[in-house]
Amino acid sequence: MTTTALADTARAIVAAGKGVLAADETPRTLTQRLAARTIESTAETRRAYREMFFTTPGISEFIGGVILQDETIHQRSSTGTPLVGLLAQEGITPGIKVDNGARPLAGSPGERVTEGLDGLRDRLASYREMGARFAKWRAVVLIGEGLPTAGCVNANAHALARYAALCQEEGLVPIVEPEVLMDGAHTIDRSEQVTGRVLQAVFDALFEQNVSLEGMLLKPNMVIAGQDCERQASVEEVATATLRTLSRHVPPAVPAIVFLSGGQDHLLATKHLGAINQVGGPKPWKLSYSYGRALQDEALEVWDGRSENVPAGQHAFYHRAKCDSAAALGRYRTEMESEAASA
Ligand code: 13P
Repeated sequence: MTTTALADTARAIVAAGKGVLAADETPRTLTQRLAARTIESTAETRRAYREMFFTTPGISEFIGGVILQDETIHQRSSTGTPLVGLLAQEGITPGIKVDNGARPLAGSPGERVTEGLDGLRDRLASYREMGARFAKWRAVVLIGEGLPTAGCVNANAHALARYAALCQEEGLVPIVEPEVLMDGAHTIDRSEQVTGRVLQAVFDALFEQNVSLEGMLLKPNMVIAGQDCERQASVEEVATATLRTLSRHVPPAVPAIVFLSGGQDHLLATKHLGAINQVGGPKPWKLSYSYGRALQDEALEVWDGRSENVPAGQHAFYHRAKCDSAAALGRYRTEMESEAASA
């Protein structure tokens, strides 16, 4: 696969106000989310849950790519079509989470490094065979007393870059996800400082591993105060700080930045993205979304594990995706919440 083909795939995923649905929770994480609503978690209920999202009528207007998990990429819909095929039929690019999760970093208590490089080349080739056209690898960085350490930041940046280079070699667009967590009581200033440092380390490592920036997508956190911080920044402050940080550390050759929601309330995640696209400043990249919880939470609540609630769950998902898409285009207004919800 050529660099141009990778760049075309990357741009198609975020074309015309589209974003990404992150539906790649591991069975373990999804089980926790379902259990919180006393919904039984089996391979079958997890499939039914995913299928609700993937078959939402009209959703390809707002969703250009879906990140799947290993279990889901092997599953078939209730009508017997592979779920990957269902997405491809709708013009939605299927992607796959390929990291093996964040594990304790030896020698650095409290910090984690994402594992999964061993055997990755072969796994990427087989996922491509199954229809995946992009991949995701998530690194997590915790802010705390004396944290993050340079050891943690650099180990994660190195792994992200090795993963990204392997993806491009195998013809998959890498989503590079360095997530500075919202856990803790840090201020927005501290989030900005750490996010900047992490992004700088990631792009240094990507350069060293010869990753083509045109053929990748960056999935960062927004610059936001820790969830236990007494002073939560305003929507405008988050937008300004996020844009400032990205402009300092992300080269303009990257076609798009697709934010994670990271535990933000779904409305706030929409408002932040809207403001990021509305505040002034240089924006050489598309600024869109790759939300997991912020796109799914309302639909999960409405669905409640019951097949008769699928249309209502799909309505909730469609509404949220429509608002997030408007935010990605810089056209989001709070009034859309009631307009779109009643449509
Ligand atoms: P959230 O939007 O729920 O943070 O999920 C995005 C994601 O893919 C995390 O890896």
